[in-house]
Amino acid sequence: MQHILLLLPSETYRAADFIQAAAQLGTRVTVGSDRRNPIANSDEAVIELPLKNPELAADAITEYASEAPLHAIVAVDDQGVITAALASDRLKLPYNSPQAVAATRNKADMRHRLAAYGVPQPAYAVLQAASDPHREAECLGYPVVVKPVSLSASQGVIRVDDPNELQPTLARVQKILHERGRPKHEALLLEQFVPGSEVAVEGLMRNGRLEVLAIFDKPDPLDGPFFEETLYVTPSRHTDAIQSEISSVTAQAAEALGLTEGAIHAELRTSSCQTSILEIAGRSIGGLCARALRFGLGVSLEQLILRHALNLPIHDLQRTDGASGVMMLPIPQAGRLVEVTGVDHAQAIEGITGVEITIAPGQLLIPLPEGNRYLGFIFARGHHPSQVEAALRAAHKQLRFSIETNCDKSATASSIT
Ligand SMILES: Nc1ncnc2c1ncn2[C@@H]1O[C@H](COP(=O)(O)OP(=O)(O)O)[C@@H](O)[C@H]1O
Ligand SMILES: [Mg+2]
Repeated sequence: MQHILLLLPSETYRAADFIQAAAQLGTRVTVGSDRRNPIANSDEAVIELPLKNPELAADAITEYASEAPLHAIVAVDDQGVITAALASDRLKLPYNSPQAVAATRNKADMRHRLAAYGVPQPAYAVLQAASDPHREAECLGYPVVVKPVSLSASQGVIRVDDPNELQPTLARVQKILHERGRPKHEALLLEQFVPGSEVAVEGLMRNGRLEVLAIFDKPDPLDGPFFEETLYVTPSRHTDAIQSEISSVTAQAAEALGLTEGAIHAELRTSSCQTSILEIAGRSIGGLCARALRFGLGVSLEQLILRHALNLPIHDLQRTDGASGVMMLPIPQAGRLVEVTGVDHAQAIEGITGVEITIAPGQLLIPLPEGNRYLGFIFARGHHPSQVEAALRAAHKQLRFSIETNCDKSATASSIT
């Protein structure tokens, strides 16, 4: 029986879906996680790994594999990809090279690599301690986007329109970095704001070749100042010509970084003049969004990823559903979540296939740019992307979020749609 190590950081949304996919394949699974009990109600074997220190985590995996040989290592989220690459390298298992993966985990390195290969991307400057941010921003031209090189989920990503806002924005992003335990003076990225509509590409690299599994449109405008993701709908409604440009720029980006095996997730902006890449990661789509994708005879994205990692046959990469989509529920305001009502009504809307609230009552809701958790997800299917989009918007309108905005005892709960 084949033996796979799944790297499941304790913060992941994806544990259940990957474990289920592995069970469907009948493969032996060991979970590697930063906690001893990362998955509630699960009897999977777990090895504890210091995922924040990939070298040490890779040492621990190599040692473990000397007693329990591994056939594949799959990191489900960003937090495990460098460890998976290092350990796979040492164990001679197919994976992206550690250098390629490291470049995806640092947005400044990623920009430099893409620039060296001439892949279309936003003009940028890396702000170091000695840089003059005003000068760099003037050279790029306002509006600019400030972003950390090491975070994700739009945390700390802020649009700046005016030179007077630049310094306070940089200070705000540095504070976010500090709160996330990053060095306070870690380099920041400054980019030209790229207008246009945004898309996400889900792909599978096989032997250095990109197979595009889905292009998601993001029909809500993402113009800032913060970039909260909401709707993802596939298939794309862009013309065939634009879709093929999106696939081609994604393939160029993967090649520039040296990503050769496994899932990739890319984000791009496209306008009438150009398609440019915002970022590419050596992992699949985050949150629970992969549930919007089914292939061949109902195979999940997770199962495709595991099949590829274990070198099992993959019969069909075509999506099954006509159109499909997901809405990441925006956090309507800061406070403590009291309850979410209307879920039954949302679920009853035609085309809706699921509603998952992923923040428990009593927990704090932190909006962007400081926060990085999703309030939940709504899923829909239909014949046409416009039906899916309409169903997701209608379902969202049914939800009421009761949030305690003042954390002292006199607080009142407010309802927000
Ligand atoms: N240069 C840019 N121009 C326009 N929008 C941008 C730019 N950079 C980032 N964004 C917006 O911010 C979001 C998050 O930025 P991204 O670089 O993808 O970082 P993260 O890793 O946090 O997702 C993007 O999805 C996009 O909507
Ligand atoms: Mg992104």
